[in-house]
Amino acid sequence: MPSKDKLNICMIGYRFMGRAHSNAYLKVDKFWDVDIHPVMHTVVGRNAADLQAFAKRWGWQKASTDWRESVTDPEIDLVDVGTPNNQHREMTIAALEAGKHVLCEKPLAATLADARAMRDAARKARGVKAWVGYSYRRVPAIALAYQIVRERDLGRLYHIRAFYLQGWGASPDVPLVWRFDKDAAGSGSHGDLGAHIIDMARFITGDEFVEVSGAISETFIKERMIPTATAGAGIASGAKASGKKGKVGVDDTVLFLARMKSGAVASFESTRFATGDENKHGLELNYEKGSIYFNFEDLNNLYFFDATLPRKMQGWTKIQASVPGEHPYAEAFWPTAHPLGYEHTFVNQTYDMLQELAGKEPVVPLADFNDAYETQRVLEAAVVAAKNRAAVKMREIK
Ligand SMILES: NC(=O)c1ccc[n+]([C@@H]2O[C@H](COP(=O)([O-])OP(=O)(O)OC[C@H]3O[C@@H](n4cnc5c(N)ncnc54)[C@H](O)[C@@H]3O)[C@@H](O)[C@H]2O)c1
Repeated sequence: MPSKDKLNICMIGYRFMGRAHSNAYLKVDKFWDVDIHPVMHTVVGRNAADLQAFAKRWGWQKASTDWRESVTDPEIDLVDVGTPNNQHREMTIAALEAGKHVLCEKPLAATLADARAMRDAARKARGVKAWVGYSYRRVPAIALAYQIVRERDLGRLYHIRAFYLQGWGASPDVPLVWRFDKDAAGSGSHGDLGAHIIDMARFITGDEFVEVSGAISETFIKERMIPTATAGAGIASGAKASGKKGKVGVDDTVLFLARMKSGAVASFESTRFATGDENKHGLELNYEKGSIYFNFEDLNNLYFFDATLPRKMQGWTKIQASVPGEHPYAEAFWPTAHPLGYEHTFVNQTYDMLQELAGKEPVVPLADFNDAYETQRVLEAAVVAAKNRAAVKMREIK
């Protein structure tokens, strides 16, 4: 292994997440003081020409179209997997077996069986870390919600009301990109969007699911044009339609209810058909002594309702989670109320990974394969509940 203060990275996949992660590797040691510095060693993809251009633009030292050779390269310390969900299993297990740290994008896998195999491989691997990119944990306002729940006595939790609303799928002109393909993605809005809010609810509350019920899954547009190519920064932008149609194999929306271990009840809604909502996701948590509300389209703010104040003083407080020295992650960036964006969540995620590798505490916990497997079980429970039109106990989902 190379020097202790350097971390040689191999990143597989170089579009949406590839850009977000590359930016984070470039920025992390500019904004944060770190003991270990990431080195952008090898980027892997399938199209050699595009890959070369990407490597040059973002400063990757090497480009390779052979992921197997790259993940086992003795020079590599950490493998970063940002490919479609059905690729995660093979790539992460190969990396773990080669003794590499792994960052895998979410959801952990396309299927529960794949997720289980990955969790088991991570448990078996010695001396390496295996994380999953639930990046919204590192929005300062979300990290603040995590801290408030632990630092204040909020009393009993009654409700979790979680939503992930996108609208881009509603147009029938959006082609059949991999996110609509069951083999590649495993599920649609459910694994793509629902996974984030399940993780967010588990992360902030520390509560666990005991039962899932009332699940509905719907695919509104059953066929879409098969694309010949994909490009661009957006989820389906630049995808050219071939003229032939293919079957959409995944859900466009999933809604479900849940009971939590604490006795709280919960509702979850994920959709790509919320026309007018671009990336509106978050949750409201109603506790006995206060409530918390977050919406990513207003990501710099956390809303808190303090039910312990005199009645005439009660009301929602907008907290700009940006005060250096007070709010999580704020000290690395700008003065108070100079807002952060989406990309900072990945910079923060990389910082927390480097902290753990240096034997230090992350600002807030990262999701490991075990943790992400629990989220995958909830995804599976909702699929079973929707299929059987019946409640599912979490203990039935192994
Ligand atoms: N953390 C988040 O908020 C977040 C956001 C978006 C996507 N994701 C997750 O990241 C992963 C990738 O999504 P994306 O939006 O970046 O997809 P994308 O389509 O933008 O990029 C996928 C990349 O994987 C590459 N790829 C596909 N199959 C490959 C193979 N066999 N070998 C090598 N490279 C291969 C593609 O060429 C492309 O570069 C998914 O698991 C997705 O759920 C996470």
